Amino acid sequence: MKMRILGTGSSLPKNLVTNDDLAKIMDTSDEWIRERTGIRSRHISTGETVVDLATDACLKALENAGKKPEDVELILVATVSPEVSIPSAACQVQAKLNADNAAAFDINAACSGFIFALTTANAYIQSGMFKNALVVGAEVLSKIMDWNDRGTCILFGDGAGAVYVEADENAENDFCSVIHSNGKKGVVLHCPTRDIKNPWYEQEETVKFVSMDGREVFKFAVSQVPLCLEEVLEKANITKDDVDMFVLHQANLRIISSISKRYERGMEFFPCNMDRVGNMSSASIPVLLDECHRNGTVKKGMKIAMAGFGAGLTYGAAVFTF
Ligand code: COA
Repeated sequence: MKMRILGTGSSLPKNLVTNDDLAKIMDTSDEWIRERTGIRSRHISTGETVVDLATDACLKALENAGKKPEDVELILVATVSPEVSIPSAACQVQAKLNADNAAAFDINAACSGFIFALTTANAYIQSGMFKNALVVGAEVLSKIMDWNDRGTCILFGDGAGAVYVEADENAENDFCSVIHSNGKKGVVLHCPTRDIKNPWYEQEETVKFVSMDGREVFKFAVSQVPLCLEEVLEKANITKDDVDMFVLHQANLRIISSISKRYERGMEFFPCNMDRVGNMSSASIPVLLDECHRNGTVKKGMKIAMAGFGAGLTYGAAVFTF
């Protein structure tokens, strides 16, 4: 059975925070942030939850595909910032959508989450177990940031993106992906949850915010993303010149331009939105895909390559005909 993306959608919190806004509350500047990352602003939640944003993105993806919530058989939400540990964000989205016929669960692969989730949906659809899925990346990272850590909090934003995928007998069966993890490097991008505190054991209190070794993550991204893209192109039996558009994780403009140079493909093949929305972890790729779909940068029939990297460490890439 063959998987095809039939609809896309995205949702951002209303509140836009510029670099100048950040410079009013911490020792930073628009120039420092722009030069090192390419980011100028990001949307920060003033109450919108992961579930609100994910549900809105799903409704738009369903509308775009001409489908109804009751048609959906599987909902996968990639997130590292759900409001509650149980139930999953995916089950909460299912309830809000009234998608009563869907199985729903979350996937935590951080910024690679959308590619991991899309790979999972493809495996289920190819096996014949499900005929369609909503695949979502949704984050409210602002609540797990340490707003005193200017080297990290300036990078991230909140938002959600979704795609509706369906088994399609007539589609070229060309969705192809690779996913990898390196748990031994987990400490370079890390966020504890709650401490254990019970009658038998009490853990020392820890700081519950994201901590990141920015230089290590940068080196990892610059070395692994091109290798991962090359691996998926080889697996799909195509070359970088066959790709019409590279929809990559939006962590840092310098990382994307280094890949553009290495591949000798101009920046016009690498659409970017991190200048407006920052790094939204698992939501980055699907929000960018939705924007590109709606503004005509990505059109039906185009060969799309995606690649993501992030905490875990995790990394993955996919190629497919849109
Ligand atoms: N504003 C102003 N100065 C800042 C700052 C900020 N927001 N953040 C850090 N600095 C300062 C540091 O304190 C340091 O000062 P010092 O030299 O006096 O000690 C200096 O700038 C350099 O800091 P450093 O952390 O070495 O900067 P960098 O050039 O490595 O850039 C990142 C930092 C985070 C932008 C860069 O490492 C990066 O993009 N890494 C990848 C992170 C990423 O993509 N993570 C998400 C993965 S999904």
